[in-house]
Amino acid sequence: MGNIISWISSYADVAPQHKQQVLDEAYTQIARWYDGKHKSAGFNAAGLAKQQLAEYLPSAHMLDLAGGTGDMTVYFQSRQAALKRTAVSTVYDLNAHMLEIAQRRLENKEWRDRVAIRQGNAEHLPYADGEFGVCCCAFGLHNMPNRRKVLEEAMRVLKPGGVMAVLEMNTGDSWAWRAAYMGFHWLLVMPLLSLQGSGSEVQRRLIVSALNFPAPSRFTQELRDAGFVVDEQRSQSICYRYYRIFIGVKPQ
Ligand SMILES: C[S@@+](CC[C@H](N)C(=O)[O-])C[C@H]1O[C@@H](n2cnc3c(N)ncnc32)[C@H](O)[C@@H]1O
Repeated sequence: MGNIISWISSYADVAPQHKQQVLDEAYTQIARWYDGKHKSAGFNAAGLAKQQLAEYLPSAHMLDLAGGTGDMTVYFQSRQAALKRTAVSTVYDLNAHMLEIAQRRLENKEWRDRVAIRQGNAEHLPYADGEFGVCCCAFGLHNMPNRRKVLEEAMRVLKPGGVMAVLEMNTGDSWAWRAAYMGFHWLLVMPLLSLQGSGSEVQRRLIVSALNFPAPSRFTQELRDAGFVVDEQRSQSICYRYYRIFIGVKPQ
């Protein structure tokens, strides 16, 4: 009975007041193998999505919000190097273990001296108003119980004309897409994860949190409510509609 209850409860999202702490513990557990899992899942679809997002980012001081192991920063800096441009960036994340991996991973990159690594909560950014030209958040916002506060902080630290770029699961606006998307994860992905044994509980928890990200139209409205002008052309579904990019611009 206990097993059944814990199995069912692992399909429910965490209550907002506990969410940050529960997910932080989850990232502490998976930090060492986060990059490997992320890359092997779905033929590195998440990596392709981040690469595509990097192409939308201007060459400007970049804040990699919820930057974790530094993956988005690697795509951003590699793209800048390919374009023969330089830009400084900061990997900013709540979890010290994820940042430790980032530290090791970025060590030997030729652009390492242009990247800072800093621990902190996205709800309170220790930066001056208008310090950044780009704020990027890849697969991070769904972890945060107070998205409004995070978007307001991002708005504050961006320069006028600065870009807010968000990458998340495409939870979909139509009921048909939502049903198919949720069905795929709940009936196929999660049971398959259970077969893996160790670590599957934590991974399920993280997927549930990601699937609870609002529908695109709702999140677009959240961006507008925070004061961003939404770039409709570049805000789009990618990777066969599996993920979604949202681009907001701080008004001049
Ligand atoms: C799924 S990982 C994404 C990491 C990275 N952006 C990537 O694409 O690989 C989510 C990250 O969000 C971070 N995070 C969660 N809540 C946060 C908060 N309130 N402030 C800053 N980082 C947070 C976690 O520590 C974790 O590293």
